[in-house]
Amino acid sequence: MEKNAIEIEGLTKIYPAGLGGKEVKALDDVSFAVPEGIIFSLLGPNGAGKTTLVKALLGIVHARFTKINLLGEPVENIKVKERIGYLPENHKFPPYLNGGQLLKFTAELHNYKGDDFKERSRFLLEKVKMSKWRKAKIKTYSKGMMQRLGLAQAVIHNPDLIFLDEPTDGVDPIGRKEIRDFLISLKEEGKTIFINSHLLSEVEMISDSIAILNKGKVVYSGSVEALTTSKEVYEVELNKNPDDYILFKLRDFDVVETKEKEIVFKIKNEEEISKIVDILRENDFVITGLNKRKSSLEEKFISLVERTKD
Ligand SMILES: Nc1ncnc2c1ncn2[C@@H]1O[C@H](COP(=O)(O)OP(=O)(O)OP(=O)(O)O)[C@@H](O)[C@H]1O
Ligand SMILES: [Mg+2]
Repeated sequence: MEKNAIEIEGLTKIYPAGLGGKEVKALDDVSFAVPEGIIFSLLGPNGAGKTTLVKALLGIVHARFTKINLLGEPVENIKVKERIGYLPENHKFPPYLNGGQLLKFTAELHNYKGDDFKERSRFLLEKVKMSKWRKAKIKTYSKGMMQRLGLAQAVIHNPDLIFLDEPTDGVDPIGRKEIRDFLISLKEEGKTIFINSHLLSEVEMISDSIAILNKGKVVYSGSVEALTTSKEVYEVELNKNPDDYILFKLRDFDVVETKEKEIVFKIKNEEEISKIVDILRENDFVITGLNKRKSSLEEKFISLVERTKD
């Protein structure tokens, strides 16, 4: 049976009211699970509760919950934290340390006993393209360099579950691609990766599964595919433009749209597709392509987040 790396049931976090302010319900009865060995992304607009959720899982903020399991252990078992890596949002590492020292510091915090530490440290700095800066003090790093080092420190102790809060924040496009490749290589080693992000196109490229959080509530959880593929709408690409005669022949079907060398149908069942294809071919059309229509993750995201607006 497939195991879950993360199981959350009934997680609620209320930040108390500050001076003259109102209390904030940052998480409202959140429940979902993340299977082991996948790249999972938690999406949501600013203030949705993504950072609060990760902090609640790690015990950095105190929250109410029915159940939280990490790597099969109840979250109360602090030993499990040795197997967890974390890149915080807007992290501030000690500015007087250099890159290599920070990795050593983090490994010690996690009680990492591997005698391959030196080798691992060099390997990871190479992976995140920070070898050159190993001996430079953190206070001299740019934002992108801080993120790269942050990623290396999140995995220095070879954790099985890795939380990354906005990992590509401030990183240039080439760096983002490198980070994606790095995350994929971690997944290939069997690690579970949990990303907080609002960069939809990026998340779409690498996530096996996502959840969308809005105002502290989960409004979607599942695959990107299931969210963006609409089963009923098919685009049929043709060798020539559809004319009135062929549209007349196809009058029994639900044509959504005609375009240059293309007809878009809404279909009731799969048999309809074969019938449509037959009619087109009988009338000297060549089918050059047949696609289920996809909407972008961004379109779906906006509609989900808007629908739950109050
Ligand atoms: N320490 C705190 N005290 C009071 N309210 C807080 C605190 N931290 C967060 N909040 C509030 O909780 C809500 C969720 O914030 P959170 O930082 O978890 O959102 P987020 O989804 O990570 O947003 P972003 O995409 O901007 O990082 C917001 O309304 C925020 O103002
Ligand atoms: Mg955040």
